[in-house]
Amino acid sequence: MSQRPAILIARAVFPEVVERLREHFEVETTPPGVVWSTAELIERVQGKDGVLTTGSERIDAALLAACPQLKIVANLAVGYNNFDLDAMTAAGVQATNAPDVLTETTADFGFALLMATARRISESEHFLRAGKWNQWALDLFAGADIHGSTLGILGMGRIGQAIARRGAHGFGMRVIYHNRSRLDAGKEAACGASCVSREDLFSQADHVVLVLPYTPAAHHTVGAAEIALMKPTATLVNIARGGIVDENALVAALREKRIAAAGLDVFEGEPQVNPELLTVPNVVLTPHIASATLPTRMAMAMLAADNLIAYLSTGQAKTPLNR
Ligand code: DGY
Repeated sequence: MSQRPAILIARAVFPEVVERLREHFEVETTPPGVVWSTAELIERVQGKDGVLTTGSERIDAALLAACPQLKIVANLAVGYNNFDLDAMTAAGVQATNAPDVLTETTADFGFALLMATARRISESEHFLRAGKWNQWALDLFAGADIHGSTLGILGMGRIGQAIARRGAHGFGMRVIYHNRSRLDAGKEAACGASCVSREDLFSQADHVVLVLPYTPAAHHTVGAAEIALMKPTATLVNIARGGIVDENALVAALREKRIAAAGLDVFEGEPQVNPELLTVPNVVLTPHIASATLPTRMAMAMLAADNLIAYLSTGQAKTPLNR
C-alpha cells in the first residue's frame, strides 16, 4: 500500500474538518489556543506534503527552503498576505485561498461595523454599563445617518460589491468606489455604484469602508493625507488588513475630531492592538471576526481541506493562487 501524504493543520480547526482530512492523509493537528513560533512551524512542516494555514502563519523562502517535501499550502482565508507567493511559485509549491464562501458574511459584518460606528453603539453601551445614564437628552450619542448618505468603498472585489449592494439597495445610499480597475457597466449597475478618483472617494463619502487586499504597495495607503480629505462628520471602517491604515495618523484624527469615528476589525500588529487606539472613545474595535459565523467559518475550513485533497490527489487545486 502506498504511503498516504502527510499534512499539518497549523491552527486548531473544527473536528469535522480534521475528520475529513484524516480520510485522505496522515494528519498532524495543532491544539486549540496554540500559535506556533516561526521555528516551531518550520519544524512541524518538515516532512509534510501539505499545510492548512489560517492567514496568520507566514510562508516564506526560509520556510520553503527548510521544507523541500512541501507541495501545497491551503489558506483558510481569502486574504493571503501571509504568503510570499513568488517564493512559493519559485519553490513549486501550490498556494490556495478560500474565496467566495465568506463574501456575504463578511459584507454583513462590514455593514454591522459601519452602523455600530456611525450610530455610536459601543460608546453608548459602555456609557450605560458604567451607570452614567441619568436622563434622556436630545443630543445623547447623536451620530451620523446611514440611509441616504454617501458610502465610499476602497477596493471593489467580491466583498466590496456585496457591501455596495447592501448600501445602494438596502439603505438608499449613494455608493462610490475606487479600485485598481473599473468594474464593467453591468457590475456597476448590479451593485449601484459609480467609480470615482481616490481623492473624490475620501472627500465625498460620509462613510469610507476599506476592503482592498493588503500588498506592500497598500501599506499605510490610508494615512494623514487621505484622512485630511475626509469630512469631519465621516466614519472610516477597516475590514481588510490593519497595515492598510496608518494607525497613529488615525488616532490623531479621532482625538482631534477631524473625523467623527472609526470601526476597525483588523490591526497592524494583531493580535496586539496599538495601545493608543484603546484610549480613544470614538472607535469601535473588534478582533478580526468579519467572516466569523459558524457556517461560514466551516465552509472556509472545508474549502481549504478540499484544496489539499484535490491537489494532492489530482494535481489540480479548487481555488489556486499560483501555478
Ligand atoms: C480573510 O479571509 O482574509 C479574513 O480576513 C480572515 O482572515
